Amino acid sequence: MFNLNLNSLKNCRILDCNAGASSFTMHMHQKGYDVTAADMLYGPGPDDIEKITSHDFKTLMDAHKGREDKVEWGFFKNLTEMMDYREKSYKEFYQDYKKSFNHRYVQEKLPDLNFPDKSFHLVLSSHLLFLYDDRLDYEFHLDSIREMLRVSIDEVRIYPIISINGKGKHSSYLKRIIEELGPDYYLDIQPVKYQFRRGADEMLSIKKMNRNRDNCGLLTYDAVEVEGK
Ligand SMILES: C[S@@+](CC[C@H](N)C(=O)[O-])C[C@H]1O[C@@H](n2cnc3c(N)ncnc32)[C@H](O)[C@@H]1O
Repeated sequence: MFNLNLNSLKNCRILDCNAGASSFTMHMHQKGYDVTAADMLYGPGPDDIEKITSHDFKTLMDAHKGREDKVEWGFFKNLTEMMDYREKSYKEFYQDYKKSFNHRYVQEKLPDLNFPDKSFHLVLSSHLLFLYDDRLDYEFHLDSIREMLRVSIDEVRIYPIISINGKGKHSSYLKRIIEELGPDYYLDIQPVKYQFRRGADEMLSIKKMNRNRDNCGLLTYDAVEVEGK
């Protein structure tokens, strides 16, 4: 989803914002990377989280049945493969959450984050902003992105940039966000290999000007996909 390059992420602090029931944090932690997951879902104990996430998984499964034509098969071969992947991911998340909730998994509700300025080199956000522009208004988008930029040192990446009801087209908020933030940041739409929803093959990268590379060392986080990210 984010064209991540593992080599460039060593010594970096990463925030996965609205990380949900996904296993990216677990995989990265196992490999020795410093990743924090934030989501308004977190906070309840593991048993309650397990009930919520297994219920959400069943809802997702039902929602996709009979809608296979809305999907660009390729990254996943078919619905079964996609659902197997999602099931594995939420179960891995749950096992990791049990071990480290309130530590690696932090309850946070956008558009506010309780982290100090410049806490993370890279902030990632997937499957919330732009995608759900039918229920999250423009102010929420702008405030959330500004907040993610506040807690980031270098860069914020958002995937996907289509609207859920847009038949694969960019969210109408994308252009406004680019115009609004353009004077102060480097904004760039980049192709990614991951694609599930039709048209969802791009991310928005928002880089800070005058970035300080001393902490992380390398010039870019780009390159190889890792664990679905
Ligand atoms: C569709 S899931 C995406 C999860 C994960 N990022 C992924 O790509 O698989 C959306 C997530 O956003 C979280 N969320 C929704 N509104 C939020 C908000 N205002 N602040 C933080 N998280 C939010 C939900 O709890 C849910 O876990």
